[in-house]
Amino acid sequence: MKIASVVSTKGGTGKTTTSANLGAFCADAGLRTLLIDLDPVQPSLSSYYLISDEAQGGIYDLLAFNVTELSRIVSTTTIPNLSLVISNDINNQLINLLLQAPDGRLRLANLMPAFRDHFDLVLIDTQGARSAMLEMVVLASDLAISPLPPNMLTAREFNRGTMQMLDGLRAYARLGLNIPPVNIVVNCLDQTSDAQMIYDTVREIFQDNQEISVLDSTIPAAVVFRNAASQGIPAHRLEYRQPSNRQAPSALSIIRRLAIEVFPEWRDRFEAMTEERVAKLAREAR
Ligand SMILES: Nc1ncnc2c1ncn2[C@@H]1O[C@H](COP(=O)(O)OP(=O)(O)OP(=O)(O)O)[C@@H](O)[C@H]1O
Ligand SMILES: [Mg+2]
Repeated sequence: MKIASVVSTKGGTGKTTTSANLGAFCADAGLRTLLIDLDPVQPSLSSYYLISDEAQGGIYDLLAFNVTELSRIVSTTTIPNLSLVISNDINNQLINLLLQAPDGRLRLANLMPAFRDHFDLVLIDTQGARSAMLEMVVLASDLAISPLPPNMLTAREFNRGTMQMLDGLRAYARLGLNIPPVNIVVNCLDQTSDAQMIYDTVREIFQDNQEISVLDSTIPAAVVFRNAASQGIPAHRLEYRQPSNRQAPSALSIIRRLAIEVFPEWRDRFEAMTEERVAKLAREAR
């Protein structure tokens, strides 16, 4: 089981969009995928896709009471292979609880083995701010994916914020915990001629950093991601062909390329997600 978190020390960078679309793509490719919504303030991942079987509990039960029985905390979405632990921390209490608990930062890492036999991939969406919760999620992950807008100032600020967070986690590395590599994906890249220059500069900002790398894959700014969100449909199902009026590739190509780069161990099954296959899936889902 692979655990990936989608993190950023800033809000509104595309974490939920990335979690929802990457997760649904992996599920359609046949991976048993679990989305975990760890954003108590704006739990938008919890309502992103329709739920077919809703569990009574969610993240609060998992983290506050160590409930790991799947039937109590894992809801099933209408997308085959895609499950969800909803954010039900309505009063935003978990953060204080984690700050006070002696095992606070390690709690999620300690609970993850309960999912090992049931899922191939766990994707955790987080809140866009530096917090104990974010540190806990990072410590539980094998890798972190971090969407970044194509903006040099934000990139520098991100570099500082993320480095501070990773520095804060080093004490845990000495306890034997893994600090995962951070993979930046430039999100909302527009199709103007300086897009490439912006991307190259973002790469330069991080080039001397061993722990943070900038992915080759980028996500263009495209209306399909907003439409997919409002319709509750994975972007790759909504747009599997390149629209004739656009330079950017189809949402399917964008998400597939990202999935292959982040999870190369599943390359074959991702490559098998061709336009024809996704067209069939999308037809069947209607
Ligand atoms: N590549 C994209 N193209 C167009 N719109 C996008 C793209 N990525 C994200 N958006 C839009 O930008 C807004 C913010 O995205 P999203 O909610 O995924 O960010 P977030 O990092 O989860 O935000 P928060 O920190 O508030 O949780 C949403 O309206 C989303 O539809
Ligand atoms: Mg979000």
